[in-house]
Formats: sequence, C-alpha cells, structure tokens
Amino acid sequence: MILVTGISGNLGQAIFQYLKTHGADVTGGTRNHDGSAQTQTRTLDFDDPQTLALDDVSTLVFVSAGTAEDDVVIGRHQNLITAAEKAGVGHIIYTSLADHGDHLGFALAHRWTERRIQEGSIPWTILRNGLYAELIGQLLTPVDGVITAPFGNRGVAAIPRQDLAEAAANIALAPKKHAGQVYNLPGTRAITAKQVADRLGTDYRPQTMAGLRSSLDAAGLLPFQPDMLMSIHSAASYGFLEDTTDTITSLLNRAPLDPLIIAANSARQVG
Ligand SMILES: NC(=O)c1ccc[n+]([C@@H]2O[C@H](COP(=O)([O-])OP(=O)(O)OC[C@H]3O[C@@H](n4cnc5c(N)ncnc54)[C@H](OP(=O)(O)O)[C@@H]3O)[C@@H](O)[C@H]2O)c1
Repeated sequence: MILVTGISGNLGQAIFQYLKTHGADVTGGTRNHDGSAQTQTRTLDFDDPQTLALDDVSTLVFVSAGTAEDDVVIGRHQNLITAAEKAGVGHIIYTSLADHGDHLGFALAHRWTERRIQEGSIPWTILRNGLYAELIGQLLTPVDGVITAPFGNRGVAAIPRQDLAEAAANIALAPKKHAGQVYNLPGTRAITAKQVADRLGTDYRPQTMAGLRSSLDAAGLLPFQPDMLMSIHSAASYGFLEDTTDTITSLLNRAPLDPLIIAANSARQVG
C-alpha cells in the first residue's frame, strides 16, 4: 500500500487524489483524521511515535511536515523515518527543497532529512521541490493595488504545486525505477515580480527589506517565520532562485503548467 503523509495540506492532498484517481492502493496520513474508515485516511502525527503504524506500507510518500524551528522539524522527520525503518517500508519518496534553495531559512531541515534517509536502510527517491508558484503569488499579493514585496528584478523558478504532486504520485506508482535518484525540480521558467504585476494590471513598487521586516513584525507571526520569509525575498532579489530545469517534464504525463499564470491567480485570490 502507498501511504501519503500530510494529506490535510495542499501538496499531500493533491498527491493523494491523483493516486486515487489512478486506482492505486493508497491511504493518507493526517493529524486530524476524522475517525471514518471510509475516507482512506489514518491518524499520523510525526510528533507522536505511537501513531506511526506503517506495517502495511510498501511505499511512503513523505511530505515534509510544516514549517517550525529546525529542531522541531528534524525531530519529527527523524521519528517518521525511524518508524518506517522499523516497519520495513519498501521505499521512501521525500519532498525536499530545490538545489538553489540552500540560502533559504528552511533549507537545513530538508538537507538533514535527505541525509538521514540516504544513510538509512530504505530505498529512496528525493524530490528537490522548487518554491510553489502559489506561494510566490501569495507573497506578491498587491497591497492597495500595488505589489510592494521586495523581490528585485530577477526571476524565480517557481513551480506549480500540481506539477510537483503529479510527479511525486507518478514515482509512487513505479518507485523501483526511481530508486536512488535525487530530482532537482525548480520550475521550467523563471518569473519576475514585474511579470506578475503586468499580468494583474497593477504596478510593482518594491519596498525596502526593512519595510518588509516591519510589516512582518506587525503581523503577529510565529518567531521563526519572519526570517524564513525574509530569506525568500533576499534570495529572489539577488538572483539565487533563478535556476530552472526541465526535469519535471520527464516526470509528468503532460506539459508542465505555466507558473506565471498560477502565481498571478494566487496573488489575485489572496488580494
Ligand atoms: N516548496 C514550497 O514553496 C513550500 C511552501 C510551503 C511549504 N513547503 C513545505 O512543503 C510541505 C507541503 O506543502 P503544503 O503546501 O502541502 O503545506 P501545507 O498545506 O501547509 O500542509 C502542511 C502539512 O504538514 C502536515 N504536518 C504538520 N505537522 C505535522 C506533524 N507533526 N505530523 C504529521 N504531519 C504534519 C500537516 O498535516 P496535518 O495537520 O493534517 O497533520 C499538513 O498536511 C510543507 O509542510 C512544507 O514543509 C514547501
């Protein structure tokens, strides 16, 4: 059986639905299971090893578990991998972070997890996912009709979440073919803040990094979140997220979606 984790989230849910529609023997894990046996889901809380029953799992699609301080994320990922090893899971597919994401505030927990999986006993596939086009769109949401996020003028190789979900699901349907592979999956094209603004018919007038920091401080975020968000803006502004690859195309059964359209739609919806 395939088990997809994080199915209350956007990526896990999309992987799960794709596998279901392709007739896979699949179940989904969530901390918020409703107790119904009909929904093909089960309780799975990485923070609670007692819930990590994986004896019937042949392929684990391990969606990284949320943003938190590094020790929390690493601790919960460690719990899941250890449980998978004890249960004799046959293959782990881990959704990580693209090569060019090494400057981002959440990179370390991903790289630690990759290393732990690669040094462990289970055959694996690592998906180094680029930043979601949906996320970039949210960050570029116009404020009073103007995009003010400091993204500079360089491109971001954002990738639609649905493309990443289908790639992960296709691998889960034939994991052996992908054993030992690290797939770097930024988008196939880099998009700029100005292009998103043009598509929305708004202006792009970036504020300073200090201005963004003040808004984030005022937004009542969790303590680690401002630095993580600032790191995305810095990396985007100075061209560290620009590298594209076509690798996603080889993992899909269709052409990739256009990240500019997805990002602009996302910016429009949030705004
Ligand atoms: N590439 C990107 O641009 C990007 C952007 C944001 C996040 N991410 C990473 O990619 C992951 C998937 O993205 P997404 O858009 O699906 O995120 P999302 O919608 O925020 O979903 C996060 C998922 O993490 C699960 N989770 C959190 N803590 C958990 C725990 N202790 N045990 C088990 N599951 C836990 C949640 O499941 P339950 O609450 O149901 O347990 C939820 O389903 C995120 O968790 C994050 O690590 C990547």
